[in-house]
Amino acid sequence: MKTLIIQGSARKSGNTNKVVNYIQEKIKCDFVDLKNYTISNYEYDSRNKGDDFLPLMRRVVEYDLIIFATPIYWYAMSGIMKSFFDRITDCLKIEKETGRKLRGKQMAMINCGSDKDSVLAIEKEFEMPFRETASYLGMIYKGSVQTWINTDKVSEEVIQNLDIFIDKITK
Ligand SMILES: Cc1cc2nc3c(=O)[nH]c(=O)nc-3n(C[C@H](O)[C@H](O)[C@H](O)COP(=O)(O)O)c2cc1C
Repeated sequence: MKTLIIQGSARKSGNTNKVVNYIQEKIKCDFVDLKNYTISNYEYDSRNKGDDFLPLMRRVVEYDLIIFATPIYWYAMSGIMKSFFDRITDCLKIEKETGRKLRGKQMAMINCGSDKDSVLAIEKEFEMPFRETASYLGMIYKGSVQTWINTDKVSEEVIQNLDIFIDKITK
């Protein structure tokens, strides 16, 4: 299964990236860091259609499983990832053939917060935009894994959760 992880953190080699690295060591997949792209906020008149979003999206839709990896910023996905999600609207309006290619594809999500209790307390709410977006786009939502890092490495407990997640998404 052709798999892509899309990372949307404010730092390239931060905590979310540590979790992503663990997954990448376990499953063969490609990686996109949104930090490397210029993706501006959604515009109703599509004046920004010449930025990096559409060329990137044309690549993304060629994958079978797309895993979004985001830190938790103020109980929600990061701004950089939200801009990416908002821009999917361009694929429903100005480039429908790209949007249609998402139908039947799989989506999953990884988040990364700072401590277990605060991450688990918002699990369902945090997941909602991913789950519902998948449903709206005709994608199959494969679930998520909640992670947290408050030292310099990924804890054993988080690694266990990641292994369960990897099992689930690769079935
Ligand atoms: C702007 C901002 C908002 C944050 N809000 C939350 C939050 O609501 N809940 C939480 O658990 N951690 C929060 N944190 C902590 C980060 O989620 C946590 O440190 C995460 O591991 C950082 O990942 P990163 O290095 O990829 O940015 C916040 C951090 C920042 C910078």
